[in-house]
Amino acid sequence: MLDLIIRSAALPDGRSGIDIGIAGGKIAAIGPALPAQAGETVDAGGLLVSPPFVDAHFHMDSTLSYGLPRVNQSGTLLEGIALWGELKPQLTQEAIVERALAYCDWAVAKGLLAIRSHVDICDPRLLAVEALLHVKQKVKPYLDLQLVAFPQDGVLRSPGALDNLKRALDMGVDVVGGIPHFERTMNDGAESVRILCELAAERGLRVDMHCDESDDPMSRHIETLAYHANRLGLRGRVAGSHLTSMHSMDNYYVSKLIPLIREAGVAAIANPLINITLQGRHDTYPKRRGMTRVPELLAAGVPVAFGHDCVMDPWYPMGSGDMLEVSHMGLHVGQMTGQDAMRQCFAAVTGTPAKILGLEGYGLDVGCNADLVLLQARNTVEAIRLRAARLKVWRAGRLVASTPAATATLDLPGRPDSTDFMY
Ligand code: FE2
Repeated sequence: MLDLIIRSAALPDGRSGIDIGIAGGKIAAIGPALPAQAGETVDAGGLLVSPPFVDAHFHMDSTLSYGLPRVNQSGTLLEGIALWGELKPQLTQEAIVERALAYCDWAVAKGLLAIRSHVDICDPRLLAVEALLHVKQKVKPYLDLQLVAFPQDGVLRSPGALDNLKRALDMGVDVVGGIPHFERTMNDGAESVRILCELAAERGLRVDMHCDESDDPMSRHIETLAYHANRLGLRGRVAGSHLTSMHSMDNYYVSKLIPLIREAGVAAIANPLINITLQGRHDTYPKRRGMTRVPELLAAGVPVAFGHDCVMDPWYPMGSGDMLEVSHMGLHVGQMTGQDAMRQCFAAVTGTPAKILGLEGYGLDVGCNADLVLLQARNTVEAIRLRAARLKVWRAGRLVASTPAATATLDLPGRPDSTDFMY
């Protein structure tokens, strides 16, 4: 006897008319026309059922702080970093927890059930670390929160940052972060990558660095990151976030670099909403887009995820925790309008980041966690096009969020048959 059966679903891989049987919080059966009986039956009516959205790159310690203590007037990355520096001394643990929990509510409503969040460790009080470790436990029943120890002001440039970072890992932060392009020199940046990768190797941890978030084509720390990932046997456990300098690099150099990234088993995380708004700020026209070379990395076999990065914080005044909005922007900025490319944009906010985070039990196979989202769309491309409503969100087979279908009521002159209209 199943707890729940979802009938007549379309799946992200293109299959349709599929039933999903759930028992004990896991997927117990999946296939066409399952004969099984269940305590509850939901008819998907041919709509898409997907594993949940996964955000590979976020900042939960700063989210929903937009306007505190003032707004970012220039809208630039550097004013954002300066503003965050002004806000940090005023932060309280309670306020961080409150904002983070509010954001997690937004996330669940949008079917986003796993987030990798960087947490700034440069403040020796480690307030944000304590706050987000608390949030991680609190949301565990409905959202997987993975934390990255992130030295926002540079692990070498900021006094005491390396010790703070190690303390954060001791406290239970999961992943080693870095920001080599923000160190004082290229050499310091490279040295920071070596130190942090060795630390991760010693402790058996994953690495995710803000890497080359710059329009400077000579910002080449991704090469160093790939080198150390390869040297230390960290294949499959290292991600380079942003990599925006690759947008501006010489094509010949990139033709050497991408195979090195692939060979080292390093993943790439682009942040389309943030890259398109923060990069190219020193350009007149034409203005660079700044997003890394997503189609070329994918073609070479490098896993590429899209992250949200920011929602209403010193760097970005927009956002709602909607990974389909992120995917939609990535598709446009990367000019990924081919059929396969559009499906890759959906994977970049679902299965690919799940692999990068090392999530266990993610997917639609028997035995996987019954974490599922019913979308108001018939396939993944339509889901992106419409930023489709998340009609139902299940966590371990339990309904945790629902949203009414998007409809419009039309009353058109000369059209007496006008009725409710569904997109
Ligand atoms: Fe970031």
